[in-house]
Amino acid sequence: MSLKRVIFLGPPGAGKGTHAVGLAKDLGIAHLSTGDMLRAAVKAGTPLGQEAKGYMEAGKLVPDALIIDLLFESMGDDDRGWILDGFPRTVPQAEALGERLASEGQELDGVILFEVPDKVLIERISSRLSCPSCGAVYNRLTQPPEKEGICDRCGAQLVTRKDDAPEAVSHRLEVYKEQTAPLIAWYADQGKLIRVDANREIGAIRQDLDRIFA
Ligand code: AP5
Repeated sequence: MSLKRVIFLGPPGAGKGTHAVGLAKDLGIAHLSTGDMLRAAVKAGTPLGQEAKGYMEAGKLVPDALIIDLLFESMGDDDRGWILDGFPRTVPQAEALGERLASEGQELDGVILFEVPDKVLIERISSRLSCPSCGAVYNRLTQPPEKEGICDRCGAQLVTRKDDAPEAVSHRLEVYKEQTAPLIAWYADQGKLIRVDANREIGAIRQDLDRIFA
C-alpha cells in the first residue's frame, strides 16, 4: 500500500523541502509546509504574519496555538493525502495532529527522518536560495537554478531567507535538538519512524524515498 499521510522530520537544511516539493507533485498529494505558510503570511502582512515574523527571524519556533490552527485550516478535508513538511515540531503539535487524525478516523502512514550531520546542514543553509513565490529550493553550490537568481519553476526572483543568517541558523539547530528531536523517540515508539541517510546526493535520496512511498 502506498503512503498517503506522511511527516517529513529533520533539522533545518536537511532537505525536507527539496524532496517534498517534487515528491508531492509526482504523487498527486498535497505538500503542506508550515514554514512556507508562515512566510506567505509575513509577506502578506496578515495579523498572524506580523506576530510570527519576530520569532522566525530570530530562529525561534512560532507558538503552538498559532501554528496548529494555521496547519489545520490548510489540511481541510482533502482526502488525496499529504506530506507535512516542518510540522509537527513539538510534542503538543504531535498530540494535536494525533487527535485530529483520530477524530477523522485516519491514521498517519509514516514519519521520514532526514539525518544529516550539523556541519553539512550549516554548509547547505549558507548557500541556499529560496523562491518566495512557489517555495522551490535551490543551492548556489549543489543545485543552482538554470538562470542565475531566477526560479526555474515560476520565474520569480530568488531570495536568501532572513533566518538563514548564521546567528539564526545556530539557534535553529539548538531549538531543533531541544524541542523537535524528542519527536524521534515519540514516533519510533509508535512504530512510524523511517530513517533516511540524507547526507548523500539528492538523486540517491530520492530513489530511497520512491521505494518508501511505492
Ligand atoms: P521551515 O521553513 O520549516 O524551516 P526548517 O525546518 O528550519 O527547514 P529548512 O527549510 O531550513 O530546511 P529543509 O530541510 O527544508 O532543507 P531544504 O530542502 O531547504 O521553518 C522556518 C521557521 O518557521 C522556523 O524556524 C519557525 O520559526 C517557523 N515554523 C515553521 N514551522 C513551524 C512549526 N511547526 N512550529 C513552530 N514554528 C514553525 O535544503 C537546504 C539546502 O540544501 C538547499 O539549498 C538545498 O538545495 C540543499 N540540499 C538539499 N538536499 C541536498 C543534498 N542531498 N545535497 C546537497 N544539497 C542539498
